[in-house]
Amino acid sequence: MIADERMVDPADHGPEDDGTLRPQRLADFLGQPRVVGQLSVYLEAARGRAEACDHVLLAGPAGLGKTSLAHIVAAEMGSRIHTISGPALERKGDMAAILTALEPHDILFIDEIHRTPRPIEELLYPAMEDRAIDIVIGSGPGARTLRLDLAPFTLIGATTRAGMLTKPLHDRFGIHFRLEHYQLQDLARIVARSAGILGLPVSGDGAELIAVRARGTPRIANRLLRRVRDIAQVRGIDRVGADEAASALDFLQVDADGLDHADRTLLRMIAETFAGGPVGLSTLSVALGEDPGTIEEVYEPYLIQQGLIQRTPRGRILTERGRATLGLPPAPDDPTLFS
Ligand SMILES: Nc1ncnc2c1ncn2[C@@H]1O[C@H](COP(=O)(O)OP(=O)(O)O)[C@@H](O)[C@H]1O
Ligand SMILES: [Mg+2]
Repeated sequence: MIADERMVDPADHGPEDDGTLRPQRLADFLGQPRVVGQLSVYLEAARGRAEACDHVLLAGPAGLGKTSLAHIVAAEMGSRIHTISGPALERKGDMAAILTALEPHDILFIDEIHRTPRPIEELLYPAMEDRAIDIVIGSGPGARTLRLDLAPFTLIGATTRAGMLTKPLHDRFGIHFRLEHYQLQDLARIVARSAGILGLPVSGDGAELIAVRARGTPRIANRLLRRVRDIAQVRGIDRVGADEAASALDFLQVDADGLDHADRTLLRMIAETFAGGPVGLSTLSVALGEDPGTIEEVYEPYLIQQGLIQRTPRGRILTERGRATLGLPPAPDDPTLFS
């Protein structure tokens, strides 16, 4: 269906996220006051004891700052960080090599940790718990197990699907944080900070307007800001106020609810083609020509969070609020009208 990259996709698509806007220290990490407050205590305590920090699990939707936080922990601890991706790990031997090469207080960051293959995950259990791994030498009756001690290290796991983590892995993290979508004011501060780094003058209203349309997600806020900067430059605007921001975002077809063309197409399809639903994910996927996983992970979280659609056992339905967003009258057969 839609070939363009979506402005409001929370996932990381590479080059744009070059790190310029990434907060480097805890003090630059805006919002998420509970996480920042608790983490700063744990880091200070670990530093005070001259120990590695406990293992940390960071859960939450894409684009909210998990990778940034992992790097911040390393910076605050003065430690090196090694990054690997769960699904990219193929052989136990590779994981064993990474673990045995760790030096004291190093940080091992495993992104998408819920997608780590099971045999490799099992290697992590003793590594996390006893800071040791068992390797089998030889095969057949002559095989024996050798226990290798590891340096005291910190494992930081990031996941967009905390529910998919196995219990043994989950339980071996001493510190758990769940990142939530950002409050509007915090997101506006992030936009203002990023605008400062990019050297783009943006008024407080302008920053807030961009934040409103950024779905509670810093990565989206930064992407919108970069595109607003392009538009401002070409239009010869040297200060972005609310009007300039609104006009640029309208041009990008990201509306005042943070919905883009693809969201509205999905909502309209449920409303018109499927009479408001329920419609199953696979049917929707065929009708939209979009991958079911993308629908579930990119489109739906925000639409559900905003109360525009609901997932029911029989399929997706458009809510009254969703109808209102499309400018449709309330559904005639809606039982709530008579209750
Ligand atoms: N709390 C924050 N303060 C400032 N910028 C942030 C914050 N969280 C995220 N960002 C910005 O959003 C981008 C995406 O964050 P990232 O850590 O890569 O998210 P995740 O790993 O959860 O997908 C970062 O490059 C950074 O510029
Ligand atoms: Mg990340």
